[in-house]
Amino acid sequence: MLGPRRRISRMRIVVALAVSAALALPALGAKKNDLGEMMGKMEAAYTEVIKAIMVSPMQDEDDISFGQAGLWSEDISKLAGELAKLSEFEKDESARAFLRRLANDAREIQGLAKLEQWEGMTAALIRLQSTCMACHKENRF
Ligand code: HEC
Repeated sequence: MLGPRRRISRMRIVVALAVSAALALPALGAKKNDLGEMMGKMEAAYTEVIKAIMVSPMQDEDDISFGQAGLWSEDISKLAGELAKLSEFEKDESARAFLRRLANDAREIQGLAKLEQWEGMTAALIRLQSTCMACHKENRF
């Protein structure tokens, strides 16, 4: 069982993540292409990981959905691999480095989920998120 203090700090992090997720949202009417579509999937998977390890445990703190966190983070690392093959990134070594970093961040969450280890999960999630944002920033998006 986790104490009330732990609960508050988790809640703070969820709020921080929700705020930065909102900041990462595209302008309305952004044009759709393969990249945009895959990024939509990326965001969906990312949201599921957050729900699995942050939101559901707050409703019932013994209910961290490690299985879901593992599945959706596996999705993120697969998507990162597919994105690296798109023509947009084929010759963009910097973007490809971000995608490799993203796949590693996702695999780290997957590993923790497999061990059902909550410790380190939040930090890994924040690293993953900062990789999304760093790449968006570099691409002026
Ligand atoms: C390789 C760099 C890179 C990484 C890493 C990256 N993105 Fe993106 N993302 C982009 C680019 C470039 C666009 C603009 C796509 C376009 O032109 O439609 C974008 C667009 C988006 C969009 C808007 C899609 C739309 O509707 O057009 C979302 C949402 C998004 N990314 C979420 C994420 C999330 C969540 C992560 C991390 C789990 C992530 N991205 C990681 C480069 C990246």
